[in-house]
Amino acid sequence: MPSTIDEIRTALEKRLTVARDAQDVRNAQIEYLGKKGTVTALLKQISGVAEDQRRQFGEQVNALKQWAVQAVEQRLSDLSSTARRYDIDFSLPGQLMPAGKKHILTQVEEEVESVFLSMGFDIEEGPEIEQEYYNFEALNIPADHPARDMQDTFYLAPGMLLRTHTSPIQVRTMKRENPPIRMIATGRCYRRDAVDASHTPVFTQVEGLVIDKGITFADLKGVLQEFVRGIFGSSTNVKLLPSFFPFVEPGAETAISCPICGGKGCPTCKSSGWIEMGGSGMVHQNVLREVGYDTSIYQGFAFGWGIERIAMIKYGIRDIRMFYDNDLDFLSQF
Ligand code: FA5
Repeated sequence: MPSTIDEIRTALEKRLTVARDAQDVRNAQIEYLGKKGTVTALLKQISGVAEDQRRQFGEQVNALKQWAVQAVEQRLSDLSSTARRYDIDFSLPGQLMPAGKKHILTQVEEEVESVFLSMGFDIEEGPEIEQEYYNFEALNIPADHPARDMQDTFYLAPGMLLRTHTSPIQVRTMKRENPPIRMIATGRCYRRDAVDASHTPVFTQVEGLVIDKGITFADLKGVLQEFVRGIFGSSTNVKLLPSFFPFVEPGAETAISCPICGGKGCPTCKSSGWIEMGGSGMVHQNVLREVGYDTSIYQGFAFGWGIERIAMIKYGIRDIRMFYDNDLDFLSQF
């Protein structure tokens, strides 16, 4: 019989430990202490036990009952204090956590990258704190060249600056690798420009560079055409307009047919049907020589566009400052 008493105690102990809520405990209480309960049945057996063993058996069964009553109470109180401690109302519906998302400029950068990756381009990177040599000199802009005024620069120390464009990444890539090269690079650029609806001191560019044998202006137009169709839709066209950048010859400003009005004329394209997106051209022979390429064998083209500009046209955003105001109502739309 003692072993039965021990077994009952162990079984009830287990049962109470795994009970998940008050209802579980109440069910155990009925099973063990209820009218037809296991402990109650033992109590009823006391009177039938032989006289010489009755007293000892009676004491053991009563002790078991007392322990069981206490154990049930204890478990009920533990469960209710746990619920109170964590202030849990299991009947409440769950709370929806608002999910974060990538900034619209990051999304556009990634979209640009994926279009170029699909054309077989590599993605390169370069430092934002740059040497004057890579930002200017190697790009055919010597110290006294008037073209330095085209980009008002933040100098950090003699010979060091915040890059004014992503073009130094062209030079770094060409110095590191031999042709053929097909690369793009996106990243932040810095200029001491006055802030207005289309200029900020910190902005993002995408740079492209292709170097190989027999590369022509037509390849530049073809690649840009493919690029803008991937971003703005299959009916978008590219137009190259004469322009000057010291590191390309000939140089061109690149315009796309307005994706908003389809070229008919609207406020975004100022009724012209075309929107200027950034610079481009055939890589200047001085730049190719500076990186040690044989200009009688290799030619190439390069371009540099503003990512903010691409995003503004794609999403009809009128003011570049919207990207940097951290207005969550604005940013969460994308
Ligand atoms: C350049 O920066 C040349 N490196 C582009 C290039 C690369 C030409 C390779 C030829 C070959 P530009 O200064 O025009 O060019 O700038 C290119 C684009 O960057 C602009 O069209 C504009 O979209 C963006 N950009 C320039 N300055 C700012 C600014 N302060 N705020 C926002 N976007 C800017």
